[in-house]
Amino acid sequence: MRAPPEPPPSRCPAPDGGIGFGTPERVLTCAFGAYGLARAGPSALTYASLDVVSWRHIVSLEVGEMTATTTHALDAAVEAARWAPSVHNTQPWSFAVSPEEISLRADTDRKLRVSDEGGRELLISCGAALFTMRTALRRAGFEQVVRILPDPDKPALLATVRAGAAIEPDKRTRLLSAEIERRRTHRAGFVGLPVPDRLIDALVKDAAGEGAKLTPVRSPQAVEVLASLTRAAQGVQSADRRFSLEVIRWARPPGSSRQDGVPAEGYPREPVRTDPRFAQRDYAWRHDWGGEGDQSTQTSAGVVAMLTTSGDSRRDWIAAGEALQRVLLHASAYGVSAAFHTQVLELGHLREFLRQELCSGEFPQMIMRLGITFEDTNSVRRPLSDLTE
Ligand SMILES: Cc1cc2nc3c(=O)[nH]c(=O)nc-3n(C[C@H](O)[C@H](O)[C@H](O)COP(=O)(O)O)c2cc1C
Repeated sequence: MRAPPEPPPSRCPAPDGGIGFGTPERVLTCAFGAYGLARAGPSALTYASLDVVSWRHIVSLEVGEMTATTTHALDAAVEAARWAPSVHNTQPWSFAVSPEEISLRADTDRKLRVSDEGGRELLISCGAALFTMRTALRRAGFEQVVRILPDPDKPALLATVRAGAAIEPDKRTRLLSAEIERRRTHRAGFVGLPVPDRLIDALVKDAAGEGAKLTPVRSPQAVEVLASLTRAAQGVQSADRRFSLEVIRWARPPGSSRQDGVPAEGYPREPVRTDPRFAQRDYAWRHDWGGEGDQSTQTSAGVVAMLTTSGDSRRDWIAAGEALQRVLLHASAYGVSAAFHTQVLELGHLREFLRQELCSGEFPQMIMRLGITFEDTNSVRRPLSDLTE
C-alpha cells in the first residue's frame, strides 16, 4: 500500500455540518493533522463549558483542498474502511486495490457460524465498511462510482468502488469523515443529556438516503418490550454452549495483543444499569473482565431506535450497513454514541416476532440506543497488510 499524500496545513472553519442542525455555539481552534485524526476528549474542555452541543461537534477538522491522485484516494479509502463497526469486531472484509478500483470482499472465514449463519450481520458490517470507503473517497475529492454485488458468479464480491469525477468535498462529507476513526461503540448507560430531536430527524433522513429506515422507539411500552426481548435473547444465548463458545472466540482477554474482537476494556464489569435494562452481550463469560466505568452517572437508556429494511436480501443487508455507518458517523459528529443490542435478531423466531409486532412488517436489522457519554472506549483493528489482497 502506498502512503496517503501529505495534506496541506490545517485550516479551521466553523464546523457547520450543512445538515440544518444549526451552528455550534463555540469554535475551538483546531490543531489536528489530516489522516491521523487525533482523538480529542472531553478533557480538552471542562464539562461545565459544554452546551448540549458536544465537544466533538465543537472541534472541527479541515485539511484544505486535496490533490490526491486517484490511487492515493483509493488507498486512503481502504485505510478508512478498517474503522467501520463490525459484529464482535470480526472485521469480516478484505480489499483488493487496483489503480482503478477497490473490490470489497466478504471474508467468510470470519462469519459467525452459529449466530449469523445466513451472513446478515457479516454483510451489514461490510456495508458499513463500504459507506466508510465512499465517504473517504469523497473526502479525498472524488465522486464515487459504486457497483453492489456486481458479479452473480462471485457472491463474496460485495462491491466495487471507483473514483469518479473530481469534486470538492462538501461540509457534510468533511463532518462525517472526521468521525471515522473516533466513533466508538458504547456499552453502558448514557448521561441524562437529551439527544436533540432535530438530530434524530436528520439521522432518520440519513438512513432513508441509503435505502433503510431508522425508527426512534418513543413509546415506553415498546421500549420495554424491546428491552425484555433483548434480555430473553441474551438468556437463551448464554444457556446455549454453541452461542457462548462463539462469543468467547471474539472476546479479547485483558492485555491481549489481538487486533480483532471486543476488548475487555470495551464493556462494564457490572451489568448495564438502565431502566429498562437492555442486556449486554456476555463477552466476559464467567471471567472478572470489563472496565470499571462510572455507571452511577450513566443510567439513561438514551433514545432507542431500530434500523429496518423493506426487504431482507443480501443487497438490503449491505444497504442497512451503509445506513448504519452514515447514522453513526453523523451522530458521533454531534457527540452522540450508539450502544447495540442485536442478540434478539440472531434468533429467527424472535426476529420474526419483532418484525410483525414492532416493525410493521419491515425487517429489523439493528437495535440501538443513542445517547451521550463522556467515556472513551478503546477498539482495535487489524493492519492493512492483513486486509488487502
Ligand atoms: C451487525 C452488528 C451487530 C452488532 N451487535 C452488537 C451487540 O449486540 N452488542 C455490542 O455491544 N456491540 C455490537 N456491535 C458493535 C461491535 O461490537 C463493534 O462495532 C466492534 O466491536 C468494533 O468496535 P467499535 O464500533 O467501537 O469500533 C455490532 C456491530 C455490528 C456491525
